[in-house]
Amino acid sequence: MPTRLVIPDEITPGERRIALEPGVAKKLNAAGLNIAMQQGAALSSYFKDEDFADVETVADAAELYKDADLVFKVMPPTLDELKQMKDGCTVVGFMIPSRNAEMMALMCEKKITSLAMELVPRITRAQSMDALSSQASIAGYMGVLMGAQLAPVFFPMLTTAAGTIRPAKVLIIGVGVAGLQAIATAKRLGAIVEAYDVRSATREQVESLGGKFIDTGVSAEGEGGYARELTDEEKQQQQDVLAKHISMADVIISTAAIPGRPSPKIISKAMVEEMKVGSVIVDLASEGGGNCELTKPGETFEHKGSVTIHGPLNVAGELPIHASEMYAKNLFNLVSPFISDQGDLELDFDDDVIAGCVLTRDGAIVHEHYRK
Ligand code: NAI
Repeated sequence: MPTRLVIPDEITPGERRIALEPGVAKKLNAAGLNIAMQQGAALSSYFKDEDFADVETVADAAELYKDADLVFKVMPPTLDELKQMKDGCTVVGFMIPSRNAEMMALMCEKKITSLAMELVPRITRAQSMDALSSQASIAGYMGVLMGAQLAPVFFPMLTTAAGTIRPAKVLIIGVGVAGLQAIATAKRLGAIVEAYDVRSATREQVESLGGKFIDTGVSAEGEGGYARELTDEEKQQQQDVLAKHISMADVIISTAAIPGRPSPKIISKAMVEEMKVGSVIVDLASEGGGNCELTKPGETFEHKGSVTIHGPLNVAGELPIHASEMYAKNLFNLVSPFISDQGDLELDFDDDVIAGCVLTRDGAIVHEHYRK
């Protein structure tokens, strides 16, 4: 019997993405899987049930989960969703393990195999499966558009009959995947772009996109290409140099993150109070608490009537068609090498990528970090 893959409606409030897209459904069908989707599940991504050829639609989630061997999700399964799933099935999606201990315990109890998309190793071979990157690049793009919309100034230089308009100054803090896409987007809109990261390798990347790299003299390369947390002295040194650039920016897009830690606080209240009237901070690090001391995750407000601070959550979900398409392709690239000629999913747990992202299996948490 071929593996039955199901795609439920995403029940997290405000989640508009879905873990399948018509093109990917077609490829999974061709690979031999038997696919069912919850009725209307993709409407929030602007896909209709009839766009998915050869995908069965099932009205009720409990009915859908009852026969599922494999479940594709965007957000982590809730306890209720897990209870409806068959023992021993496989679930693939973002799992946010650091916040979901009960979810992992129930998965163990039900001997569910879970693959966490955020744990897919950042190795060259796994780039096409890297959902953190696909969703972060959307966040970087959207972050700049949000900044442009909130700013009371143009981004490009304009020469008009009413005079010449100077281009906006955009400062990007944190030059990972989101930051790089933010630089590229702000440049396309005609802004003058400066960027900063604690990893020295980012200088060349910033410059290749036409941005100016800010050198604070602080270098904090951590493990696996990530940044490490700064010492108090390094933080002070960083703030001393950054303060001037922050005070001159029209728009700041901040994206700095350290794996498994709250977002580093880089923009202090005092720095915000030195910013230009009408300037904007789009804090894309809001999910982890924010890079600005004043950020209120999920809210937009004006600090002292002068600086707009925007703390958006689930930014990739604001572009649901392409976010779903890219995410579904990441899922396809992860599992398709393990679909047999008979349409059975046979994961190889010795494979580097699968071994890196398997969270629970055979009744235990198997990911080393989360087992501890
Ligand atoms: P992330 O979302 O973890 O962090 C964003 C950025 O914030 C990083 O560039 C980090 O250096 C920076 N940051 C942390 N603390 C900071 C501070 N105090 N001040 C300023 N900046 C700070 O990063 P992301 O986008 O997940 O990328 C992490 C790494 O993974 C990068 O080296 C990236 O090139 C690499 N990568 C590799 C891939 C592959 O080879 N398959 C795919 C995607 C990313």
